Amino acid sequence: MTKDTLFREDSNGSDFNFGEATAEVFDDMLERSVPLYRELQRMTGEIAAEFAADRTNVYDLGCSTGTTLNALGNAIKKKVTLIGVDNSKAMLEKTRRNLNHPCDLLHADLNKTIQIKNASVVILNLTLQFVRPLNREKLIQNIYAGLHKNGCLILVEKVLGNDSLFNSEFIKFYYEMKKRNGYSEMEIARKRETLENVLIPYRVDENIELLKKSGFPHIDIFFKWYNFCGFLAVK
Ligand SMILES: C[S@@+](CC[C@H](N)C(=O)[O-])C[C@H]1O[C@@H](n2cnc3c(N)ncnc32)[C@H](O)[C@@H]1O
Repeated sequence: MTKDTLFREDSNGSDFNFGEATAEVFDDMLERSVPLYRELQRMTGEIAAEFAADRTNVYDLGCSTGTTLNALGNAIKKKVTLIGVDNSKAMLEKTRRNLNHPCDLLHADLNKTIQIKNASVVILNLTLQFVRPLNREKLIQNIYAGLHKNGCLILVEKVLGNDSLFNSEFIKFYYEMKKRNGYSEMEIARKRETLENVLIPYRVDENIELLKKSGFPHIDIFFKWYNFCGFLAVK
């Protein structure tokens, strides 16, 4: 795994992107920047296995380097077609090399309408936060329309606290975690700046409202760590 040293250098005002340099170090970046990343992957596989149905599609939207697709392939014992979607060619190339299960890969932009069909499970882990707020409702509605009844959406997001008092505390604890995982204060500050207009988190209640408005009748939180939250929505 190549070590993430991207923000040891100044990014000279450019925004965060998912190009080749990021794809190269992304597995290490996720392991050190997402709390309980491995447990999240395990839970995603476990939940998906419960909802997956024979002869349906299981989508991973924003599949990055293919870690979740492999977790799904290991966990799901039904006859499903795994479909990974990403708009970064560099990430899809990494996925292609990492995959240890048959899988269809699709280069597509989630800001535009993508076809979700015959789905029993759709996963949006740490990806909706990068879709423009204006396009989020349409995407969730599109997912809802493509899911079978009793199918599920697994959504994991960086979130803002419902109360700004906790918000600043949670973010402070998050940066402490990154420091424990070997990032310097300078690296943390530089990355935060480049993400400012790119990663736009919603509050927990805004995400729940979005799921409700799109039609999901069953919604719960299956994961919460300070400013990270996992939602499970069932049609
Ligand atoms: C933080 S990563 C997701 C991590 C991954 N789901 C996991 O759990 O390992 C976000 C991914 O979403 C992709 N992405 C961001 N915006 C996108 C868009 N508009 N359309 C498609 N993919 C997008 C990025 O290229 C990146 O691979």
